[in-house]
Amino acid sequence: MDNSKIIEMIEESCDLPPVPIVASKVLKLVNDPNSTVAQLEEAIIGDSNMVSRIIGMANSAYYVRVHKVKTLRAAINVLGYKALANLVIAASTRQFYAKFGLVEKLLWEHSVGTAIAAAVLATEFKAIKSDEALVGGLLHDIGKTIINLSRPDEYREIAEYVYNGDGSYYEIEREKLGFAHNDVGSYLIQKWNFPVELGKAIYYHHSIDEIDPSVMDPFQVKYISVVHVANNFMRFLGIGYREPDDSVDIASLKSLKLLGIELSDEQIEQLAEKIKSVIEEEKGKFD
Ligand SMILES: [Fe+2]
Ligand SMILES: [Fe+2]
Repeated sequence: MDNSKIIEMIEESCDLPPVPIVASKVLKLVNDPNSTVAQLEEAIIGDSNMVSRIIGMANSAYYVRVHKVKTLRAAINVLGYKALANLVIAASTRQFYAKFGLVEKLLWEHSVGTAIAAAVLATEFKAIKSDEALVGGLLHDIGKTIINLSRPDEYREIAEYVYNGDGSYYEIEREKLGFAHNDVGSYLIQKWNFPVELGKAIYYHHSIDEIDPSVMDPFQVKYISVVHVANNFMRFLGIGYREPDDSVDIASLKSLKLLGIELSDEQIEQLAEKIKSVIEEEKGKFD
């Protein structure tokens, strides 16, 4: 099916939320060569929840630095504009999980877990920057949240099918709705004018087989791959699912090959342990 048909269906059946204001302002400032640190600070400082999330993320285990960042101004100076913009985008998605039933709780746990796993893997593999990995991981399933907000009864049913082991979200969404959460997420990112590479990382996390590294920008390939491996670690560990999925074979993932990484079973176990412990330590910073 061509893309315009899918977009038409998404527009018809989902209430797409307006762009998060602070993130949109920050992106504009970051892309304006004449903007100042004071302007950036002013755009963010009024949102105290966002400020504490940014400072929390800036002091995370996956950002190795000598001094602790204590203020928003220091975070802007230490992180730089681009990383700051990514953390602001990441921090602005919590609002879509305001209602907190079982479905939302699992989605949030899974998103935060994938974000942290992606940041850990990005550093371990020396692939991309941790802020890029973090925002890609946190938003990779944002489409699920948007469908759930628009059609809660239908989505609870879909979540139940998945919970009972009758298929994946991707498969059941396509069957019941005609599109899947990666279509919704990537379309939303485009509509919001958020970074194109983020939209692609979201889209391809369920279409990794379509990637041909000879025609795609190498950074984009790495970005997509890190998010894909992280998402699979969450399935492997059962984070955001009822239980771990024994069928996940991390070593054979195409995304791992695209990153040029080979892992033994022992290395996979070690990475899984590390990811689990960093998630335990850091997940509270996203609330
Ligand atoms: Fe997904
Ligand atoms: Fe996922």
